[in-house]
Order: sequence, then structure tokens, then C-alpha cells
Amino acid sequence: MYKFSTLRKPFVYFILGGPGSGKGTQCELLSKNLKCVHLSAGQLLRNAISNDSEHKSTIENCINSGRIVPSHVTINLLDKAIFEEQSSETFLIDGFPRNYENMENWIALMDHKITFKSVIHILCSRATMIQRITERSKTSGRSDDNIQTLEKRFITYQNDTYKIIEHYRNRKQLIEINGDNSIETVQGEILESLKKHHSQ
Ligand code: C5P
Ligand code: MG
Repeated sequence: MYKFSTLRKPFVYFILGGPGSGKGTQCELLSKNLKCVHLSAGQLLRNAISNDSEHKSTIENCINSGRIVPSHVTINLLDKAIFEEQSSETFLIDGFPRNYENMENWIALMDHKITFKSVIHILCSRATMIQRITERSKTSGRSDDNIQTLEKRFITYQNDTYKIIEHYRNRKQLIEINGDNSIETVQGEILESLKKHHSQ
């Protein structure tokens, strides 16, 4: 068990990519390979729909229209999840920051409490993402895994999230991986790139 002291700042990696790019799948594997904790911003929001009456309708509306939930809601969930977790000092945050509002508020509220490491972007072709979400929709039970919402999620990714990816690329804090390959290949490339990036 690892206990944070007030001075300890947990290490944070962000994992970005379009819908169906494999963020969740790769983070699950990374959490085992690197012995760290996977937090999915989208999953925390979905869980909050059942627990949180105050923001329930805002979250539901955003998810069903592929829009980004106001950052104070998401950051509050991430903050709690990070500082309530005591099994590791390293966190993979999947699906965050999705737009400038997410990023700027994170910097204002969280940057001083954590040690930022890098951003992993899983770059995937639209055809692969559509194929994976179509397959996933058969069992996921997710209200946003349908072709209409998927189109809106692609638009948000292109218009908003891509700017964030470019921001980190310009700062040389971005690791970009081809997500069209097999799960094992993508995982291997992420592990290798992380090693390289952080030994520089
Ligand atoms: O990452 P995931 O596909 O699980 O995200 C599902 C939805 O959750 C997004 O389309 C968006 O509506 C919402 N979300 C958000 N802000 C984030 C992450 C997810 O609003 N940072
Ligand atoms: Mg996911």
C-alpha cells in the first residue's frame, strides 16, 4: 500500500484518441505492465450519472450529443479518484483533457498537486474506429455507441481535442502511436515510446 504524504505529487499521464481508438484497452494493459492506476474520464462521468443527481442531466445530455462536460464536473471526479487511491503513485488518465476548457481548468486546479509526465495519443483511422464502435455497440450498453452520436464525437475530437494534441506536440510532450495495429503491437509500441521519451 502506498500512502501519499502532503508533499507527494502523483505522476500523471494523459491518454487521448478518438472514439474506438483503443484508449481503454491500452490503459488496462498499461496499468498491469507499469503497475499504475487507470482512470477513464468517460467512465467516471458515466458512473456519476447514477450517483450524482446534481449533474446527472448535464452529463447525460453531453454524452448523448458527443459534447464535452463542463470541466469542473470532470476535474472534481478525477481529483477525488486520484487522491482516494492509495495503491499506486502513477495514474493513466484516459480521455482527458478533451478541449481547452478541460486543459486550462486542470492547470489552474490540479497542476500544482501532480507531476505531469506526458500525453499519449493513439492515432487511428476513422474506418477502424467506426468498425470497433459498431462491434462494441452490440454489448456495451452505452447510449453514445451509435452511428449518429459517433459522428458528433468525431466532430468534437477534430474540432476540440485535436487542438490539445497539437498543444502538447508543440511542447514536445506528446507520444503518438498508430492505433490501427493489433492490441499487442500497439501496447508494445507505447511501452517502447514511453521508455525512449522519458530517458531523454
Ligand atoms: O472517453 P469516452 O469515449 O468514454 O467518453 C465518452 C463521453 O464522455 C464523451 O463523448 C464526452 O461526452 C464525455 N467526456 C467528457 N469529458 C471528458 C471525457 C469524456 O465530456 N474529459
Ligand atoms: Mg474508453
